[in-house]
Amino acid sequence: MFVARAAHNGARLRASYLEIFKYAHRRQSTPTAASYARIASCARAFHGASCLRQRAEGSSQTSDIAQKLNTYKKTLEFPPATYDFAKFLAEASVGQEIVLHGYLGTQSYLSKAVSFARLQDPTMKYNIQLVAITGKGPSEALKKIRPNSPVVVKGKVQKKRAKSAEMARRDPWEVILDDIQPLNDFPNDIWMAPDMVHPPKHRHLQLRTSSELRDALRFRAEARTICRSVLDQSRPAFVEIETPLLFKSTPEGAREFLVPTRKRGLAYALPQSPQQYKQILMASGMPRYYQFARCFRDEDLRADRQPEFTQLDLEMSFATSEDVMRVVEKLIRQLWLELLDTEVSHGPFWKLPYQEAMRLYGSDKPDTRYGMEIYRIEHLLPVDLVQKITPLTDPIVEIFKMDGNDNYAPATSAFITHFLDSPAGSSFNENPEGAPGIFVYDTKKPLCGLQPFGFQAAEYVEELLKPEQGDLLVIQARENAPFAGGSTPIGDIRRALHTAAVKIGFKQPPTGFDFLWVVDFPLFSPSTESEPGQGGAAGISSTHHPFTAPKTAADVDLLLTEPTNVVADHYDLVVNGVELGGGSRRIHDAAVQEFILRDVLKMPQERLADFSHLLEALRAGCPPHAGLALGFDRLVAVMLGKESVRDVIAFPKTGKLGEDPMVKAPGPVSQEALETYHLRLLEEPETTGP
Ligand code: AMO
Repeated sequence: MFVARAAHNGARLRASYLEIFKYAHRRQSTPTAASYARIASCARAFHGASCLRQRAEGSSQTSDIAQKLNTYKKTLEFPPATYDFAKFLAEASVGQEIVLHGYLGTQSYLSKAVSFARLQDPTMKYNIQLVAITGKGPSEALKKIRPNSPVVVKGKVQKKRAKSAEMARRDPWEVILDDIQPLNDFPNDIWMAPDMVHPPKHRHLQLRTSSELRDALRFRAEARTICRSVLDQSRPAFVEIETPLLFKSTPEGAREFLVPTRKRGLAYALPQSPQQYKQILMASGMPRYYQFARCFRDEDLRADRQPEFTQLDLEMSFATSEDVMRVVEKLIRQLWLELLDTEVSHGPFWKLPYQEAMRLYGSDKPDTRYGMEIYRIEHLLPVDLVQKITPLTDPIVEIFKMDGNDNYAPATSAFITHFLDSPAGSSFNENPEGAPGIFVYDTKKPLCGLQPFGFQAAEYVEELLKPEQGDLLVIQARENAPFAGGSTPIGDIRRALHTAAVKIGFKQPPTGFDFLWVVDFPLFSPSTESEPGQGGAAGISSTHHPFTAPKTAADVDLLLTEPTNVVADHYDLVVNGVELGGGSRRIHDAAVQEFILRDVLKMPQERLADFSHLLEALRAGCPPHAGLALGFDRLVAVMLGKESVRDVIAFPKTGKLGEDPMVKAPGPVSQEALETYHLRLLEEPETTGP
C-alpha cells in the first residue's frame, strides 16, 4: 500500500516538475492570471509530493540541503578587504592587522607546529604566504578548505624569513592567520593546473588558468580607455553615441543575422556596422561621432574573423578622407606609445594604391616588412615552360624570390619540399590556374638551376632579382584579367611561404610595425556567389559598401560610362599584413546616392526602398562627411602579437558556424518559439550519398 502511494506520488512529483519546467520555458510570453494560478498549484503539489517522498526516502536529502543552505548563509556576510595586494605589498608594516580576499593555494605542513598556504589575490597576479599555528582555530579551518576556493582571511603581518635578498625583495611579508572564512568551495571533480588547456566549453577555467588571457583582456580595456581619451580630447571633441542593435535588413554587403519578432512576417536585422546610423548622425548636426560598436556578420570564421565583433567606429562631417586619416594616425601613435612604449613614425603613414599593392605583393593588405616583391615575366618565358605550369592559354605569369639560408641550396630544397607536402602548402598544387613552379638557385647546376627558363629568360631573371646561392624562386600563372578581390594566387603563396618559413625557423620573424594606407580601390567589383553584395542586376557590387564616394570629379563622370573603372575614395589601414580598419569619404548627396543604387548597381525598387531613411537624411542638407572603423579585436590582437582574435576576446565563438560551446549557442528553437515568431522549419534536405 505504502509502495503504491509512493509510486503514485513519484508520478505526481514528476508531472509537477514537468509543469514547472514547461512554465519556465514559456516565460518569454507574459504569464496570465490563469498561468500564475496553475504554477501556484503545481508548486503546492510539488511541495506536498516532495514532502511525502522525503518522508519515504528518509531525511538525508533534507539534511544535505539544510547543510548547504547553512554553509551558503555563512558566506552572505564577509568583511571588506583592507588592502588590495599591490597596495598591501607596497605599504604593509609588521604587526599590522589586515583583511585580505583571494583564492587559497595549496597547503604544506613543514612541521607539527605550523602549516603554510599561499593566498592568491583576486586578480591572480600576486600571492603571499599565510601561516597557521597548529592547534589554533584557523589551522583546523584552513585544513578543511580546498585549494582554489575563494576565502577571506584576517591576520597579522610579519616579515617573511627569506633565503636571499632577492627573495626578501620579491616576497617580503607573510600573514599569521587569525581567521579564515571560506566563501565557496572548489570541488575535487574540477581539474585545474597552471598552463592547462581547457576545452572551449570550459572557457571560465581557461580564463582562470591563463594569466596571458586575463592580461589580454586588461590590455584591451586599457586600449579602449586610451582611444576614448584621444577622441574625447580632440577639438572639436568626438561624442560617443550608441546606435541601435535592433536594425533592419539592408543589402549593405555582408550576410546578416535576422531577429524574428512576434509580429507576423516582421524581423529586425543585427547591424553589420553602424554605417547608416552614423551617416544619419552627420545629417543630424552631430559633427563628430564615435562608438565601440558591436557588429554582426554571418560569415565563416577565420583566425581574424568573428561573427560578432567590435569596431571602434567614427565619422566626421565637413571632413575629407585626409582629415579622418590624421585622426586615426594620432590614435594609433598614442596607443603604441602608451601601451607598447613604441614610437610610430612621425608624419603621415605612407599610401599604397590598390593596383600597386596587388601588383607588388599580390595582396590588398600586404606585409611590407619582408620584401619578396612580385614581377610579371610571362613575356620572357619559353612557351613550353608556361604550358608546363598552367592550362591557361594567355596567362599572366609572375615571379618572386625568397632569400635562402647561408647560401646553402640543400636547406632551401628541404624547406620547400616540406612546405609543399604540408597542409599549408599542398593546396597550392590544386589551383586550377596551375601549380607553382619552384626553382632553387644553385650555381652548381646548369644555368644555376634555371634551365627550364632558357638562357635569355634566366639572364633576365638574374638581372631582375639578383638571386644568390640557395635562394628560392617561385613562378605562378593566373588568368589575364584586371585585379579583383583581396589577393592573387602568387600573393597567397608569398604569404604562406613566409609564414611557414618563420614557423619552422627557416627565417627570422620580421620585426616592427609598418603602417600604411591602401588607397584607390575600385569602387565596384564583379559580383561573386560567396558575397551577397547589394543584390543588384548589374553584375557588379560595391567593393566595400554602396555609400563610398568616387575619388575625383573624373571618377564621377566615369560612373556614366565605365563604372568598373571608377576609383573609390576608400582607404584601408594596414599593418604587417593585417587590415586593421577601413573607411571612406561618403556620398553626401541624395540624388547621387540614389543614382548609384538604382542605375549603377541596378537594385530593384523594393531593395532601394530599404535605404529610403538614408536618402531622406542626405536630402535634408547633409554636409560632406567621411569616417572609418577600426576592427578593435584585430587591433588588440596585433598589438599583443596574437595570431587569432579569439585570444583577445573573453567569450569568442568557435567552429565553422560560430558556436559558443560554453553556453551552447546557437540552440534549437522550440515548437512554441516557432509559433510565437510565426516561423516554420523546412523539411530536412535529403542527404545524398557520401
Ligand atoms: P569594414 O567592413 O571594412 O568597414 O570593417 C572595418 C574593420 O572591422 C574589422 N572586421 C572584423 N573583425 C573581426 N571579425 C569580423 N568578421 C570582421 N569584419 C570586419 C576589420 C575591418 O577593417 N562601415 C565600414 C566602416 C566605414 O566605412 O566607416 C565597415 O564596417 O578590421
